[in-house]
Order: sequence, then structure tokens, then C-alpha cells
Amino acid sequence: MRITVLGCGYLGAVHAAAMAALGHDVLGVDVDADRVGALAAGRPPFYEPGLAELLERVTREGCLRFAVAPVSEQLARAELHFITVGTPQSDDGSADLSHVEAAVEALRGALPAGSGAVVVGKSTVPVGTASRLAESLAPRGAALVWNPEFLREGRAVEDTLHPDRIVYGLPGDPVLARRGQEALDAVYAPLLAEGVPRIVTNHPTAELVKVAANSFLATKISFINAMAEVCEATGGDVVALAEALGYDERIGAAFLRAGVGFGGGCLPKDIRAFVARAEELGVREAVSFLEQVDAINRRRRDRVVALAERCLGGSPEGARVVVLGAAFKPDSDDIRDSPALEVARRLHERGARVRVCDPRALDAVRRHHRGLETVREPLAALEDADLVLLLTEWNEFVRLDPDEAADRVATPVVIDGRNALDARRWREAGWTHLGLGRPRPVPALRTRALRRARSPRKVPR
Ligand code: UDX
Repeated sequence: MRITVLGCGYLGAVHAAAMAALGHDVLGVDVDADRVGALAAGRPPFYEPGLAELLERVTREGCLRFAVAPVSEQLARAELHFITVGTPQSDDGSADLSHVEAAVEALRGALPAGSGAVVVGKSTVPVGTASRLAESLAPRGAALVWNPEFLREGRAVEDTLHPDRIVYGLPGDPVLARRGQEALDAVYAPLLAEGVPRIVTNHPTAELVKVAANSFLATKISFINAMAEVCEATGGDVVALAEALGYDERIGAAFLRAGVGFGGGCLPKDIRAFVARAEELGVREAVSFLEQVDAINRRRRDRVVALAERCLGGSPEGARVVVLGAAFKPDSDDIRDSPALEVARRLHERGARVRVCDPRALDAVRRHHRGLETVREPLAALEDADLVLLLTEWNEFVRLDPDEAADRVATPVVIDGRNALDARRWREAGWTHLGLGRPRPVPALRTRALRRARSPRKVPR
């Protein structure tokens, strides 16, 4: 099938490559010429495991091309159009739909009347958007289906080619609905043949599935982080608590890792946009718990900053602090709303000399956070540190040898903001290991004079 993919960010670039891998003839379109140039050369403008290889293969085979918008002629020739542009957060918390609207406008301008085309929205939008956009496409005879995407950064290729489920939100008009469903069945035929569940529903339900899924995931994380706060007040251990909860099949173990909380370009913005939309619909109360979910999540960052200050004798002024992690999660170079970087920035603002280490995200850190020092190698980054914070659980940090690490630092104190380190091993190597929501030894409070002396390498627990 001849397909266009409008918007080549995380979602669109991966989707375009995946659709080409499924055997379609795909044109990826974006307004950003640099991005298009990089993708056309097989170089993804962001890090996503497996994407470079996939892009290289499908562009070599000629099933995937990229072009800079506007591309009216190519739009008119394609049978199906995916809208995969971003819906960033506006100042008031609602979703900014300007890119989605621009994509629909481009299609309206390019598709001939009675074109019979199928337009498929994949972007995350406030409920009610699809039906409104469908009306503006009606004069072109185009069928609009909402088909949300659930990919996770770092696993985007796998999630797109092996999704847990596929959701079609069809228009009310039965003729357009039938056309939309048949076209998407043809697009996803190889996945449906493998038995991927397909849920066929209406526009609002499909839009809601996406925000409901992200709200649920965010709630699960904030739930366990709320339990971490209670554990801290009582001497409980949130890691053991989560393990015990996770064995209950009705609860499940996923998304129960307590720590510095969630970030990224989706969960935080999606729950805020949902609350904003619910307010417009007069059902704010129904989702007001999401404001608590957001508040608990933001409090995690405050608590890590406060703990770091306590470890540094009350003030980070002049202390050498090392933050392991800058991306909002491992296997990504995305620093949008990264908890690690927010903590790093706040300690820097309070006078600490902050060095950030990350395997993939340092270019972005240098572009957006000039005051932070960046070091690529973890052991080099640890040199002379007064305090270490693990805030993104990349494998290369989790696998650090605590003995080697202890030899590098001035003071072996680590705040394990993801509860990812083997606490016993790190303590045996002489570290004061401080997990979040875990019983902890009283942090060694060191004066600045002591830190400057740099002689003691081990802190008594
Ligand atoms: C999320 C959804 O998972 C995905 O389905 C949707 O399409 C887009 O939003 P993503 O933002 O890529 O995907 O990352 P995800 O793996 O969900 O992690 C989000 C954040 O939650 C990260 O900062 C991660 O570190 C944090 N997290 C995750 C926790 O703090 N604890 C957990 O147990 C799980």
C-alpha cells in the first residue's frame, strides 16, 4: 500500500520504518529539513535501539523515502496517511494541537474531492479531537480513523512491530468506517496474522484508551512512590513491598519501581492534558486523582534534592556532586522532563559543582544546560566526588564495580534514586548507600573542611 507518514519525530520515524518493514511503500514527511536529511541518510536524529539498522535496510530496499513538507502531489497519490506529529504541552497544561491541525490542513489542501483516502491519527490527542478533525476532512471524502500508538522509547521498534494490541477508533458514518477498517486491516495484516489483538471501537474510546493507559501507568508509579514515602517514615522497605505486591496477578510487578519518579515526553504531559480536557468537559472531579499523581511525582524530585543537601551537611555550596544519568530513562537520549537533570540543575543552582554522566544524552545536556559539567566515562566522572546520585538506571551504571568506584571518590556516599544498585555489595565496598523508601543508615554528614581534606575514603556506616 502507498502510505505517507506526516511527522518524523520519535513516533513517526519509527512508524515509517516499521510500515516499510511490513512491506508498504512509505514516504515520511517532516517540516524539518535537517531531520529529513538525517533520516534519508539512514541516521536517526535520536537514539533508539534497532532503528538505525531498520532504517538502513528499508531505505536500501527502496520501500522508505523521506521528503520535506509541503508535498501536495505525493499526498494526493498515497492511499493512506498516518498523522504522527507531536502534541506538546501548552502553558496551561492542555495539549497543543497546532501540529495535528497543520497536518490535517495539508491533507485537506492536497486530497482531491471524493479521494477515497484514509487518514489515520496516531498522535495522543484530547478526547473529542478526532470527530472534530473528521468533519474538516469530510468534504474530501476521506475516512479518519484514530489508531493510538503505545510505543515506549528505548523499545519503540519492538513495540511497533510486536504491539500488545491494535486499537481502531472508527468514524460514525458506516461507509467511511468500513473503508477505514479495511484499509488498516490491510496495513497491519502481518501483525493481525500473528494474532495481535484488535479492538474496533469509536473515535472517543480510541482517544481515551491512550490517555487512560498512560494515566494508569503514571498512577502505578506514583502509588509505589507514595508507599516509599510511608516506608521512609516507618522503616519499611519499598523494594520488598513492591516485590510482594507484584506477585499478586491482579496487581502485577511492572511499573512498581519506586525512585525519583517518571519523566519524559509522554506521561507527565499526558496526565496534565487529561485533567485540562476533563475540566473542559465538566468532569474534572473524575480525574482529580491525577493531580495527586502529578504532585507525588514532583515531590520525588524535591525529596532527592533535600536528601542530597542533608548528605552534604545542609548546603551543596562548593560540593562536587556527580549525577549518573541525564536521559529520562535508560536506552534513550531524550532529556525531556528528565528527573535526573532537574535534580542536577537544582543542586547546581544551590552552588554545587555538578558533573553529569550519561552514555547517550550528553550532547543534549551541553546544548540545554550549559552550567553542568559533562563526562562520558562513569569512573572518570566519579573522580573526587563528595556525593554520587544514580538517577537513570543505565546498565553501565548498575554494573559499576563498587570497589573501583569507591577508589575514585572523595566520599563514598551514593543516593540510589532508582533503587537499582545492589545495596549490600555497595555497603560492603564501604559506601553509604541511600535508597529511596528503604531503611537507611544515618547519612554521614561531612563538613566542608573535611570534604576539602579529601583524605577519608570510607565513610563509617
Ligand atoms: C510511556 C508509555 O509506557 C508508552 O506506552 C506510551 O506510548 C508513551 O509513554 P515512555 O515515556 O517511553 O512510554 O517510558 P516508560 O517506560 O513508560 O517510562 C516513563 C517514566 O517512568 C520513566 O521516567 C521511567 O524511569 C519511569 N518509571 C517507569 C518509574 O519511575 N518506575 C517504573 O516502575 C517504571
